[in-house]
Amino acid sequence: MRILVTGGAGFIGSNFLNMFVPRYPEHSFVCFDKLTYAGNPLSLTGIDSAKNFSLEVADIADGDVVNRIFGDFRPDLVVHFAAESHVDRSIHDPGAFVRTNVVGTMQLLNAARALWKDPSSSTARFHHVSTDEVYGSLREEGAFTEDSRYDPSSPYAASKASSDHLVRAFHRTYGLPITITNCSNNYGPRQAPEKLIPLTILNALEGRELPVYGSGGNCRDWLYVDDHCEAIWKVIECGQVGQTYNVGGNEERTNIDVVRALCELVAQQTGRSAADVLGLIRFVEDRPGHDWRYAVDSSKLKRELGWEPTLRFAEGLARTLAWYIANPAWVKAVQAGEHQKWLEKNYDRRLRTANDGRTNS
Ligand SMILES: NC(=O)c1ccc[n+]([C@@H]2O[C@H](COP(=O)([O-])OP(=O)(O)OC[C@H]3O[C@@H](n4cnc5c(N)ncnc54)[C@H](O)[C@@H]3O)[C@@H](O)[C@H]2O)c1
Repeated sequence: MRILVTGGAGFIGSNFLNMFVPRYPEHSFVCFDKLTYAGNPLSLTGIDSAKNFSLEVADIADGDVVNRIFGDFRPDLVVHFAAESHVDRSIHDPGAFVRTNVVGTMQLLNAARALWKDPSSSTARFHHVSTDEVYGSLREEGAFTEDSRYDPSSPYAASKASSDHLVRAFHRTYGLPITITNCSNNYGPRQAPEKLIPLTILNALEGRELPVYGSGGNCRDWLYVDDHCEAIWKVIECGQVGQTYNVGGNEERTNIDVVRALCELVAQQTGRSAADVLGLIRFVEDRPGHDWRYAVDSSKLKRELGWEPTLRFAEGLARTLAWYIANPAWVKAVQAGEHQKWLEKNYDRRLRTANDGRTNS
């Protein structure tokens, strides 16, 4: 297969590529990524010289570029991770989220439709990676199923909901072979330090304050990123075209419980007293429109495709902390914006190589 992975330099996409590029040398993978602040080529260093891997630095919202990449690579499979993904940023700049998450998704769908002219006779697939945030907020009881009503709260969630609708509409209207996964909160290696778990790890290691929104009672269902990637692969291989599958970890935790668990782990790892690390916690003004609780019912994925999460939360957290401690160069480079300097230095050369002299906008 020729597999186009959008957003493959981001958190989940880079873990996906680091898992599957070496596992499947018979498939070729192209990472299609704009390398925004969240896209990090350092997350691809383990695979960037692999024969079955290459990187295209480009914008999914640019229709001409998308068509050119689809024409050159002719993917059989698109795994669509690329997105603006941080809720707080979406509150400050919703337009950027509509551009990438909605317009970008539409450009990819248009290009896939043009390439796979007769979808019924092909083995092509467009897999869209989405979030449980499209379903809105739960109170204390219940869990989201695939039939839950869409009710997004943040501009991020609204833009992802919109992209889900477009993906489904391309299936119903044009017969495009699609699948969708809606997953709960991921954690693990290579996540940008603006998100709760890496932010808490890095601040705790460096003795800085640990901000927690509101009362810290907001509850999320956590899934280790490798388990999410395996779920996506399972759906690509065995999922039914046109179907949506929810993916969750069965590991509900309040934000304050996550932060406290990380403080204890950091204290154990560094020999500092747990009280000192816990003393860094600061409750800060709540995020506007902050969803109270997410919980995901992934029984369809288990029943139909046999997928289940393999890693318990405590073990996954310990593994994540160990990764951040073992990779100070990655952390330092991200904090200093080094990956953006890499982009400035390598962008033109990479594009010249990839595009044979053409430029990319
Ligand atoms: N992180 C989670 O907990 C979580 C949970 C469920 C679903 N998701 C979904 O999974 C996907 C990946 O999430 P993530 O956490 O890895 O995000 P991320 O922010 O870490 O990575 C996003 C990637 O997309 C790239 N990108 C952004 N705009 C682009 C554009 N216009 N053109 C090309 N590339 C662009 C970025 O450079 C980056 O590499 C997203 O679609 C997100 O909605 C994330």
